[in-house]
Amino acid sequence: MPSPALPIAVPDLPIARICDIASFEGQRVQLRGWLYGSRSKGKLHFLQVRDGSGLIQAVMFKGDVDEATFTRANHLTQETSLIVTGTVRKDERSPLGFELACDGLVVVTAAHADYPISPKEHGVAFLMDHRHLWLRSRRQHAILRVRARIVKSIRDFFDEGGFLLVDTPIFTPNACEGTSTLFETDYHGQKAYLSQSGQLYSEANAMAFGKVYTFGPTFRAEKSKTRRHLTEFWMAEPEAAFMDLQGTMDLAEDLLVRIVGDVLADRGAELDLIDSIRTEAEHDRQLKPRREALATVQKPFPRIDYADAIAQLQALGSDVQFGEDLGADDETTLTQKYDRPIMVNRYPAAIKAFYMKHDPGDPVRSMSVDVLAPEGYGEIVGGGQREDDYATLLAAIEKHELPMASFDWYLDLRKYGSVPHAGFGLGLERTVAWICGLPHVRETIPFARLMDRIRP
Ligand code: 4AD
Ligand code: MG
Repeated sequence: MPSPALPIAVPDLPIARICDIASFEGQRVQLRGWLYGSRSKGKLHFLQVRDGSGLIQAVMFKGDVDEATFTRANHLTQETSLIVTGTVRKDERSPLGFELACDGLVVVTAAHADYPISPKEHGVAFLMDHRHLWLRSRRQHAILRVRARIVKSIRDFFDEGGFLLVDTPIFTPNACEGTSTLFETDYHGQKAYLSQSGQLYSEANAMAFGKVYTFGPTFRAEKSKTRRHLTEFWMAEPEAAFMDLQGTMDLAEDLLVRIVGDVLADRGAELDLIDSIRTEAEHDRQLKPRREALATVQKPFPRIDYADAIAQLQALGSDVQFGEDLGADDETTLTQKYDRPIMVNRYPAAIKAFYMKHDPGDPVRSMSVDVLAPEGYGEIVGGGQREDDYATLLAAIEKHELPMASFDWYLDLRKYGSVPHAGFGLGLERTVAWICGLPHVRETIPFARLMDRIRP
């Protein structure tokens, strides 16, 4: 990568990135980044330098630099951008395994002295207000690196499994998941909504390509402030022709096992770091260390009929009745005794979306599934088999009082070569929250959009 012009004398040394530091052992290099923190002891300054890829300690010994540099290093403000030079050496005590024996320092831009995020504990509202800076902190860094790894796992899983990535629109004329959470917008004088789910378009794509997935942002005007609701969140949605409810459950199970395996293999250090930086409230929840909690996420996941789920809950003291949806508390109670996600299936059709296929053996029920994550995390996947009969779907659209004119194209899919088909949506942020053991989804996305927050 060519270097930009910098307003300083740039050392003529290879640029090392901290994530690749092992390959520079014994070499003199330059590191370009920011000062994360520092402390001094007599003739030594210890500078914590981050470069976006990691954090390293640069040790500056008075005798190794000129007087002016040593003095300057003592007065650097947090988040000052800088270039440090030195020799990479092994250091068993550091979490990274290496440190930099520093022999030079150039300041790019001195940061104002009032950087708002100090090492002390801040309140969440304050941190969310400073999200643009909070992202530089180690815990946030680790969480978003886990998120990126999960995104890659999802893409790899579907790409390798023969699912074609076919994107779906964000502006839509029709509702997918009920009309109460629609974000409405003016589309050149016409009413349009931000997509709640790519599913209906994915169904069209599945009839064109067989096996498809879409993965993008979705929007819901959620009026609830909970730990698991965002108004803008990312969903991975596979859809396949000739797939049924069982096939959907198999696919969701395989995907989750893959995600967890990849995160354990590639992001174990990040999980450990997240475990090591817990707030008091998180400590009180007594979550298992993440590696331990995730090690048991293996096939098979228990598949629980909705009716059995209701019976189990009632036996555990819940007053939930057959016919009702499971609330967040019910999901927590139900998952308590399992060490892996469970798949609750065949919910009553009346509490599910209009497109769900009714169970041929029991028309009260739908061919639906929710995957509930353990440790109180609850629903991370929702999906099922779609109604593929033209007349039945038409009746369902009427029954839900949806505007027929917006669904004519969707009905066409049942007119021209309809086949059984199914799919699901995996909520990315809820998955990240569960895998990282976080109390709230707000930390799982770079800039969370919540009912009461659209800044920064
Ligand atoms: O269960 P949902 O509403 O299902 C659908 O949207 C289907 N059309 C998906 C499909 O079959 N293609 O949402 C799917 C998942 C939920 O299980 C949850 O993980 C996540 O999306 N989700 C949310 N995540 C964060 N904030 C919200 N407000 C969410 N609403 C749903
Ligand atoms: Mg759902």
